[in-house]
Amino acid sequence: MFNLSSTKNLAIDLGNNNTLLTDQSCLLLSQPSYMVVNELNNKIEAVGDLAYDMLEKTHSNLKPIKPLKGGVISDGESTKRMLKELVRKVQKPTFFPAGFNYLLSGVPFDTTPVEKRALRDALDQFSARNTFLVHEPLAAALGLGLDIQEPEGKLIVDIGGGITEVVVISLSGIAAFQSIRVAGDTLDEEIQDYFRREYNLSVGLKTAENVKKRIGCIYAPVADKKEVVQVKGKDLMEGIPTSRAINQLELTAVLERPFKQIEECIRQSLEICPPELASDIYRSGIHVTGGNAQLKGIGERLTKIFQLPVHIDPQSLLSVSKGISHILNAPQKYRAVLI
Ligand SMILES: Nc1ncnc2c1ncn2[C@@H]1O[C@H](COP(=O)(O)OP(=O)(O)OP(=O)(O)O)[C@@H](O)[C@H]1O
Ligand SMILES: [Mg+2]
Repeated sequence: MFNLSSTKNLAIDLGNNNTLLTDQSCLLLSQPSYMVVNELNNKIEAVGDLAYDMLEKTHSNLKPIKPLKGGVISDGESTKRMLKELVRKVQKPTFFPAGFNYLLSGVPFDTTPVEKRALRDALDQFSARNTFLVHEPLAAALGLGLDIQEPEGKLIVDIGGGITEVVVISLSGIAAFQSIRVAGDTLDEEIQDYFRREYNLSVGLKTAENVKKRIGCIYAPVADKKEVVQVKGKDLMEGIPTSRAINQLELTAVLERPFKQIEECIRQSLEICPPELASDIYRSGIHVTGGNAQLKGIGERLTKIFQLPVHIDPQSLLSVSKGISHILNAPQKYRAVLI
């Protein structure tokens, strides 16, 4: 188990689906952003991995909580408690009673002041000497190893669990931007709806997400009909457990509608991009990150649609946390991006 014995700085990527904790050099923890609370005594029964395992399997006294929705905090108190528990996992009990020196957390670019306030409230409990927020797309670009300070424009597409953000970065700032609350969760819900509609089969969200992770594809020409998964759920007519197969081509059609919205979001950001930066992007292309960058066919599809080079981040679940961790190493250098 990692611990924070050699550092007083912490970087947090508080995501809609996953929370990652990092210090200046390495990943300390990556766990789902969930917790389960016992409603009888309001005690936390589980956080992170354990809570995710319990999801959709709890009984009436145990309440599963996902404190973020659409990439932002929807339940401030639960976020605070979840973060406290997750940070505790990487901290020895007696370390740093005085708190951290630098505490940096990612925040989507498209966040209201109220949502930012909720995040600050959750971070204040750690009594860090310096607490800053960093816009996640800027952190993601750093995590991808890009130089965000130069004037050369870069297009970043972050398809997370709750939000897709598309930004054009130049001179440590965001020159053009679009976002949409359509991302991984929407794709999972679409799969769930499809089984209910087409086959009267009720499947859990975790099952739907697993189908997406195993054979999810969003470009028909690369879909393979022989890639099949057996999906288990409950027959809504008979009320009994049953299963049904879905192949990759069929799944591609299911994911088309939400992915089309993501594609439109990218198109709009290119439309509002200033011409000089657009010419940079013509050279540098589109950088795709966030967990859903792993969907099969994404590179081929975006290349075909936009006729631009497309770079898929091979470690797309880590880019934001790698970026914030990078900033921890030189907070003065990146002062312009600290909020
Ligand atoms: N191999 C995979 N194929 C497709 N999707 C994947 C894969 N692995 C993870 N995902 C999806 O990635 C998403 C989680 O990604 P990520 O951790 O970047 O999101 P997040 O940072 O928690 O959310 P947000 O950025 O919206 O706050 C989930 O929707 C998950 O289903
Ligand atoms: Mg994210």
